[in-house]
Amino acid sequence: MDFKLTEEQLMIQDAARDFAKNELLSGVIERDEKQEFPHEQIKKMGELGFLGMMVDPKYGGGGMDTVSYVLAMEEISKIDASASVVMSVNNSLVCWGLETYGTEEQKQKYLVPLAEGKIIGAFALSEPEAGSDATKQHTTAVDKGDYYLLNGTKNWITNGGTASIYLVIAQTHPEKAHKGINAFIVEKDMEGFVVGAKENKLGIRGSDTHSLMFNDVKVPKENRIGEDGFGFKFAMKTLAGGRIGIAAQALGIAAGAYELALQYSKERKAFGKEINKHQAIAFKLADMATEIEAARLLCLKAAWEKDMHKNYDLSGAMAKLYAAEMAMRVAVEAVQIHGGYGFVKEYHVERLMRDAKITQIYEGTSEIQKIVISRAILRD
Ligand code: CAA
Repeated sequence: MDFKLTEEQLMIQDAARDFAKNELLSGVIERDEKQEFPHEQIKKMGELGFLGMMVDPKYGGGGMDTVSYVLAMEEISKIDASASVVMSVNNSLVCWGLETYGTEEQKQKYLVPLAEGKIIGAFALSEPEAGSDATKQHTTAVDKGDYYLLNGTKNWITNGGTASIYLVIAQTHPEKAHKGINAFIVEKDMEGFVVGAKENKLGIRGSDTHSLMFNDVKVPKENRIGEDGFGFKFAMKTLAGGRIGIAAQALGIAAGAYELALQYSKERKAFGKEINKHQAIAFKLADMATEIEAARLLCLKAAWEKDMHKNYDLSGAMAKLYAAEMAMRVAVEAVQIHGGYGFVKEYHVERLMRDAKITQIYEGTSEIQKIVISRAILRD
């Protein structure tokens, strides 16, 4: 077993680390406070290739492996999880879904600008009454011959306001339940498509989360992804890879909080010595470092399985479950180590703690990951 990263992977890790420190750090507190989307920073991330990292260069992507993507996600998330969720959705859900299941025309028209970072995409599965129970889609797509007539509402859509194209999951044949679901490429300026109000969130406040309304939107037939009825499998396959990206985001949030706590513990003195000379703090740091390393290995294993074209449903769900739960624990401890300073905005850890929470919720709650994992281990 070889744990050594390649030269290229190390270069990408360094580039992401530098970008996060030089371009994302300044202003991250203000963007969080004002709920301001990092437009300029995301534009630069697109130019540097962070928004289509794994896409084949012939479609404008970076042609990198999933391990490199995980390394970059960790570094970006250490500093700004609002920027990294944009990156994760664009790479793992939108680009991967289109590259893997789209037609050549769909790839030329939509994937190329997405992978080049010229536009941003969104993935619209969740609904007011279909979050975890994703088969119960109320959004309908009625087959009208040349087009589908799309009606319904989506909730909690990351990049909801800033995206130009949306992969929308909808029910076409209700009598067939999940086998009647389809996935569509919807353009923002299609008539009848309305972006709802922006959510006022606990964390990842710089990211852009909206509801979406579809009122008799005519979606051309050629914008359906895959065969008729492929939509639910499309969503599940896409989310399976997305979970690796969110696991890496959780890992980065935890690692960022840990690095700040470690640094603070070297500077802060109490009872006559640096606080990390007290075992109460040293043991906390030991636990945090160990859990972060365990999550990192799970993330890299899932990424490696994806790169090796093995089934990564189980390893991705395990990485996402463990990394998300760990990120919450570690971020809370980082705040505790900072004492009162951890409770105020200038020290970053309170934001990281708020950001960690979403990783236990989106792309499948921790409970959903346990469903996926338990079904896989109990199958045989
Ligand atoms: N790959 C391929 N097919 C899959 C699959 C996978 N990973 N997982 C399930 N399927 C297939 C099953 O094989 C089955 O197909 P058949 O009937 O042909 O056998 C079909 O899908 C239905 O599967 P289940 O019977 O297992 O469905 P279920 O209703 O019991 O639930 C679930 C499955 C895992 C709980 C699923 O509903 C789920 O993942 N829910 C969570 C949804 C989610 O993650 N939402 C996040 C929203 S997106 C987001 O957060 C993005 C963002 O903004 C950051």
